[in-house]
Amino acid sequence: MKILLVEDNERVSQFVIKGLQEAGHTTDHAANGRDGMFLAASEPYDVIVMDRMLPGEIDGLAIIEVLRKAGKRTPILILIYSIGQTVTAIIHGDLKHRLPTNLSDDELNTLARTINGLLEQIEQLVHGVRNVSNSIAHDLRTPLAELRSRLEELALMRPAPDAAFAEIDGAVADVDRVIRIFDALLRLAEIDAGMRRSGFVSLDLADLAATAVEFYAPAAEIKNIRLTLHAPAPLEVSGDPILIAQALSNLIDNALKYAPEHGLIDVTIRRRAGGLAEIAVSDNGPGIRDSDKAKVVERFYRGDASRGTPGVGLGLSLAQAVAKLHGSNLEFADNSPGLRVVLAVPCIESEAAGALALLGDAAALQATADVRVAPGAS
Ligand SMILES: Nc1ncnc2c1ncn2[C@@H]1O[C@H](COP(=O)(O)OP(=O)(O)OP(=O)(O)O)[C@@H](O)[C@H]1O
Ligand SMILES: [Mg+2]
Repeated sequence: MKILLVEDNERVSQFVIKGLQEAGHTTDHAANGRDGMFLAASEPYDVIVMDRMLPGEIDGLAIIEVLRKAGKRTPILILIYSIGQTVTAIIHGDLKHRLPTNLSDDELNTLARTINGLLEQIEQLVHGVRNVSNSIAHDLRTPLAELRSRLEELALMRPAPDAAFAEIDGAVADVDRVIRIFDALLRLAEIDAGMRRSGFVSLDLADLAATAVEFYAPAAEIKNIRLTLHAPAPLEVSGDPILIAQALSNLIDNALKYAPEHGLIDVTIRRRAGGLAEIAVSDNGPGIRDSDKAKVVERFYRGDASRGTPGVGLGLSLAQAVAKLHGSNLEFADNSPGLRVVLAVPCIESEAAGALALLGDAAALQATADVRVAPGAS
């Protein structure tokens, strides 16, 4: 028989041609759709063996369409081995493989594009899981190694009670670090699994912010930082109070950590368009470079500012997960100088709550609540 093979993959072409020739057939080969179309239309073949996915504008289906329209009834065998090949490669751990696609929008090509999109997501997820596992191992190793050497030293040196108690305090701090990492990871897992959605209630954001600011007042005072709160009262929102409080604490904690001595930190609560309320935490520290803004919400990522400061890089990941649970994303802006991080949550949109909140806004404009806690503040 005289057979035409239309196939762009060199290895597959050699294999098929060899098999056909050994079986006594004459074969012509086209390595792309254009040549395949030309040969199929101009030569009398008994059979055409054709790859479905060909690079460029003319794929297997386009060739068939043209031949059928021209009245050619040559039997055509279609090769769609590439899907199997790709899946096999992925099963063997090569997540970089993708299905070949072309410009047509027929069903198989659309399916191949969708599968490629899925593969992209899987690759990113697996990459993320690998990174997080490495980071957990790394970040747990440090406090555990410190704890071990403290205990070893205590056992070997048997110091006087005062020195021994100091070491024990250090050991407790090491264990606390490990527990904090696990707590943050468990909370993130809970949010990811959607387990916290049932915790949504109506709450007053201004009240929540005032409590957080009050809690951090002593820490601000130690660093001579002026911590202010601007909040109209009340601003009713719908959300998980424990998680919003945790996210806000993480943002204030960062501001305190990265703002300079005698710095300024402000927490502002306000209503904004689209039925949302926002909590903005601003500081006058080093800020975050634009190129780092997407990375700082990744688990365990620590940026330039963190050098020499304690932490593991989970604070913003948790705040971002909380924002997502409430239908938004953390927003990072330049506070010139410093950083302004905004967390948006949905307002309670009942008429009464809306009217109350607007009244609250108006009152706040006249007399902004300003909690000053640092020495020297008025
Ligand atoms: N207010 C800020 N000013 C400057 N850089 C910041 C600020 N907040 C966060 N960053 C940068 O973003 C990184 C990630 O912040 P994140 O809160 O997730 O981790 P962390 O503060 O390093 O550790 P922890 O897990 O204890 O919160 C920080 O390491 C820091 O480089
Ligand atoms: Mg932090």
